[in-house]
Amino acid sequence: MSVTVKPLVAGNWKMNGLLADLEEFGRMSAGISSALSQSVDTMICAPATLIGAMAGKAAGGSMAIGGQDCHPDASGAHTGDVSAEMLRDAGATAVIVGHSERRTDHGEGDDKVAAKAMAAWRAGLLAIICVGETEKERKAGNALSVVERQLNGSVPDGATAANTVVAYEPVWAIGTGLTPTAGDVEEVHKAMRANLSARFGGEGEAMRLLYGGSVKPANAAELMAVTDVNGALVGGASLKSDDFIGILKAYA
Ligand code: PGA
Repeated sequence: MSVTVKPLVAGNWKMNGLLADLEEFGRMSAGISSALSQSVDTMICAPATLIGAMAGKAAGGSMAIGGQDCHPDASGAHTGDVSAEMLRDAGATAVIVGHSERRTDHGEGDDKVAAKAMAAWRAGLLAIICVGETEKERKAGNALSVVERQLNGSVPDGATAANTVVAYEPVWAIGTGLTPTAGDVEEVHKAMRANLSARFGGEGEAMRLLYGGSVKPANAAELMAVTDVNGALVGGASLKSDDFIGILKAYA
């Protein structure tokens, strides 16, 4: 049984965005009516270089700002890394951990992702933990077992509906324009709900489960209507205010 939770649509700007793009962010925030912000939480996960400026611009509005990754430690000799505490200090209230691009580009496994999620909590940030199978894994019929294994390894003990969001992002759907059928999304989200409820009880029932991978204005309403989908993690379509607002309208 699923409980009613306020959905979250989070944009992931990835390695995109210069100071000049804050104008586009401004148009996005301005485009979110108060009625819309009552029905859906909104966030942009910005590159680290823009978090401070974006958080300044977002102040007083309904849009939250997140980071895209954090180091497990709070500080130390880790050249080039950014800690959860630093993200928080710059104005972020959330951070994505375990995105498939981090898992692939930086060889991050479930243990590392779990350590980063705990770092997020330590700093008072919402952890947005990503899971999802590759095309090969889906074709082999292993999508559910892969997602289950990633959930077990990446979501630490102590996860609650308030400190954790889980994003299901099939790797083959990210940035490709391909999306699973609504039925396939439902199957995975149901399995994730069952896993998290078994492990975390009512907290698992109420934890927000986002779908991510080629979400656009044209497919958002269908994907967001799927049982146990409580919002979206949006890459490419979060860079333009018209597209992002178009996706939010699934909740209007
Ligand atoms: P996409 O990216 O919307 O561009 O497919 C999603 C993501 O990687 O979070």
